Amino acid sequence: MNTFTRWCALNRTKLHRTISIRQFQTTTRRLLELTSVRYPNVKRGNYGTVQDRDVSEFERLIPGRVLTDSLDGYNTDWLKTCRGASQVVLRPKSTEEVSAILKYCSERKLAVVPQGGNTGLVGGSVPVFDEIVISTQLMNKIISLDEISGTLVCQAGCVLATVEDYLSSYNLTIPVDLGAKGSCHIGGNVATNAGGIRLLRYGSLHGNVLGLETVLASGEVVDCLSTLRKDNTGYDLKQLFVGSEGTLGIITAVSLNCPQKSQAVSVAFLGCKSFQTVLDIFKESRHQLGEVLSAFEFLDSQSMTVAKENLKMNSPIEDFPFYVLIETSGSNGKHDEEKLNQFLENVMSSGLVQDGTVTTEPTKIQNIWSLRERLAEGLLHDGYCYKYDVSLPLPSFYNLVEAMRERLGTMVTRVVGYGHVGDGNLHLNVTSPEYSKEVMAKIEPYLYDWVADKKGSISAEHGLGFKKKDFIYHSKSKSAVVLMKEIKKTFDPNMILNPYKVLPDF
Ligand code: FAD
Ligand code: MLT
Ligand code: ZN
Repeated sequence: MNTFTRWCALNRTKLHRTISIRQFQTTTRRLLELTSVRYPNVKRGNYGTVQDRDVSEFERLIPGRVLTDSLDGYNTDWLKTCRGASQVVLRPKSTEEVSAILKYCSERKLAVVPQGGNTGLVGGSVPVFDEIVISTQLMNKIISLDEISGTLVCQAGCVLATVEDYLSSYNLTIPVDLGAKGSCHIGGNVATNAGGIRLLRYGSLHGNVLGLETVLASGEVVDCLSTLRKDNTGYDLKQLFVGSEGTLGIITAVSLNCPQKSQAVSVAFLGCKSFQTVLDIFKESRHQLGEVLSAFEFLDSQSMTVAKENLKMNSPIEDFPFYVLIETSGSNGKHDEEKLNQFLENVMSSGLVQDGTVTTEPTKIQNIWSLRERLAEGLLHDGYCYKYDVSLPLPSFYNLVEAMRERLGTMVTRVVGYGHVGDGNLHLNVTSPEYSKEVMAKIEPYLYDWVADKKGSISAEHGLGFKKKDFIYHSKSKSAVVLMKEIKKTFDPNMILNPYKVLPDF
């Protein structure tokens, strides 16, 4: 087991990270074209245009919290691939204020975009044209916590990491965790039905959200903010808002089921020869680790190159074609460690794993997770990132990466694959120095056809947003989309909520 205890410092400097992101933002801000220019086929809907009298009315409704200057950050998405031209950002603090704003916008037929932490990856959180941004930034209060049942109620704009810290002092945790936790909001997580690294253990937000308070486009407040684990009275309306990406209503408060924080966490980072071996290790880990297995992630060698070259991180083990990150968590450290060590010995002696490292130290655990979680950031250093997030049956999982690599050849900088193997969710990313229509035409619709052919989903966790809405039929039947459009019309008859997103044109 000596090889497992070997450790290399992973994450050399935080300062470097700050500087490189800032430099990147400055360059791209100069170059980024407007969404309306990049996608000329998308036409502005028949909406009102914000006038001075509208701004005065907003100022009356939320004094001092109407922004009309320096709106770049609200107009541009995290990937720097979409840029809207909104002239107004509204920052309500309460449900009543959201209601008053939406009632007014409905009457004036002004289109709006709900925005949380603006970490969305499909262009859903920013305007396409001049939609008004309604930001939940100031709706950041914890409303209540029942320590016994682990039920948290909070406003939608609470930042995920802040809630996690708050819960930690009560020995509780939050059932969703993702690389964007320092910026994304709980409301945004629910609106996107975010997956992340804990889904394997706790399941999706469809199961963990106990209740929601939402405001419809008309300003009507829909109170489904239950804190009950069981409630079978009528239709479960809150589920419609989970994953609706801001198109059915604005989520203003969330009630969440929060599990006990695990007392003992271990992380192993392993190197292996082939993707088939990754699958064999996954099978063994489910079998041998059972209830303590809490995450199973993979990255390929091209992803590791991104971490090393673009983020200046070090790998704790030597080079391999594939890497696996396994996390265990439970209530009994000795028992969990024994189980993990026995498992590691088995996979080493059977030849599935060539080398690896294992740790229970929090800083080292964090460093290993950073290697996986910062890949999205690392890819941006290449220039433009074509980001795909698909569900596939595990036997076909990595074939898509190989097929795209062969198809794109030297047209692109790289094609990388990483993701949540444990959930059947592949993150396939292609990069090139800048956006290229030719590259895009080679990727889409080929990639979506490929996924549909394998009966996968074209969006496992990021949603459809603006960029993927026209491909919904690759994953949903015509009759399902017709029903979705009917639901949209019922909830938002003037279609003011996040237009041009999720559903194909009406
Ligand atoms: P935003 O980006 O602001 O908005 C996302 C969508 O939700 C938009 O359509 C917006 O209109 C809508 N919305 C936001 N708030 C509300 C609200 N209160 N009411 C109604 N609609 C609203 N996603 C995953 O699923 N798994 C991951 O592992 C993951 N990792 C990520 C790692 C990084 C580094 C980054 C940058 C992103 C990652 N994401 C991941 C994507 C993103 O973080 C999630 O989709 C997240 O849930 C978005 O939250 P947000 O508050 O930033 O929402
Ligand atoms: C992740 O799992 O890292 C996120 O979903 C972001 C990405 O796909 O790059
Ligand atoms: Zn992910």
